[in-house]
Amino acid sequence: MSHPKPTPIAQALNEQLEKAAPEILAMLSSYGRRLYFPKGIISQSAEAKQKAHRFNATIGIATEGKGPMALPSVAAQLGGIPAADAVTYAPPAGRPGLRQAWRKKLLLENPSLADRKFGEPVVTNAITHGLAVAGELFIEPGDVMLMPDKLWGNYKLTFEVHHGATIETFPFYKGKGLGPDNGIDTEAFARRLRELSQGREKILVLLNFPNNPTGYMPTPAEGDALAAALLDQAKRGTKVVVFCDDAYFGLFYHLGARSMTESLFGRLTGRHPNLLAVKLDGATKELFVWGLRCGFITFGPGRPESADVVCEVLDAKARGAIRGGISNVPQLSQSIVERALAAPGIDAERAAKCEVLRKRAERVYEVASQPRFAGSFSVYPFNSGYFMLVEVKGVDAEKLRVHLLDKYGVGLIATGAADIRVAFSCLEIEQIEPLFEALHQAIQELR
Ligand SMILES: Cc1ncc(COP(=O)(O)O)c(C=O)c1O
Repeated sequence: MSHPKPTPIAQALNEQLEKAAPEILAMLSSYGRRLYFPKGIISQSAEAKQKAHRFNATIGIATEGKGPMALPSVAAQLGGIPAADAVTYAPPAGRPGLRQAWRKKLLLENPSLADRKFGEPVVTNAITHGLAVAGELFIEPGDVMLMPDKLWGNYKLTFEVHHGATIETFPFYKGKGLGPDNGIDTEAFARRLRELSQGREKILVLLNFPNNPTGYMPTPAEGDALAAALLDQAKRGTKVVVFCDDAYFGLFYHLGARSMTESLFGRLTGRHPNLLAVKLDGATKELFVWGLRCGFITFGPGRPESADVVCEVLDAKARGAIRGGISNVPQLSQSIVERALAAPGIDAERAAKCEVLRKRAERVYEVASQPRFAGSFSVYPFNSGYFMLVEVKGVDAEKLRVHLLDKYGVGLIATGAADIRVAFSCLEIEQIEPLFEALHQAIQELR
């Protein structure tokens, strides 16, 4: 399929990249190279907003007095949020105050970012959309993307079906069973990364921590080993683009051993010109507002000296992808999240919910590892997030799932031939033991 050539604005962005960080230009997909943010309605309206003090007849909304037209029946639903912060369009990169607030949050929660140069988070229609934008920018059909063999199934739709990448995996764990010896197989990761990079100029890597479906967050040593392998490959000359999917960030329970409490993004930003870190995160899980669809994409380039220019160019290209795809992310959602982040009680509220989930995780840890269940299933290491995964023994996971539903009224997710995912995030403490009891019973029955 032949595509139009990049327009002069896209070309100018690409030339800026070529000068500032040619490696990043080489990482872009052909669509990524064609992307730009047009001097169209949006940018002309933004200029008018600043300067058109007499009449502003630019943007496609309807106004009345000094604000947007709003039907009373709509305005009545908005609580304390003014119509101007709810029913109008948001800028394609998101509300400036929200972007700043999320950047501040990243710095507070990831101390290693303090001396790193990284971009202003661009607001996405939650993380799924952020992943899709990242794919649009960096994936050319046929590119290879490495990720753990325990993965969120939706990556297949986004990266394989939509963007045409080939997903390759590495064995995530050294072994099954809880305990410090069975963590991430970082050597397998490094080996697979080297193998797949052979003969390729570029490789994409996706790391999702805390992981879905296993609920695992690396220990600091594992985080160091993953970062070292990525840096090593970048030094060998491969262009390495790492998507850090931090959907469940902050829900750390340190079961078994202390895990990292920072994103890998901090260990990967500003490390090497051939290494680009792209952080995908959001309010969806962290602030428990799944349906508000509010997430972020943030760029962490390898060269600190030109990071400002690179982030500006990638910001413009991301805005172009958003403008051309969904136009912009709901203003009301962004206003709610921005105001919540500024609320004095937010940190304590988040900590309290994390504590509720931690207690459930601890109970699961205790119950699922009881020796009497060992003949039926083994538990993959977990310490964080919403989920845990078990490997069932001697039965097909899908048959077991259906049997559990039909006979016990228990709903779990089969993620592989022998793997079953339990979302303890939606179990009350007293439901946990009966659930694992039912799982054990059902396996015995099917054998
Ligand atoms: C690992 C992972 N990434 C991303 C998402 C999507 O999050 P969002 O609802 O923000 O699109 C999910 C949700 O299930 C997930 O588990």
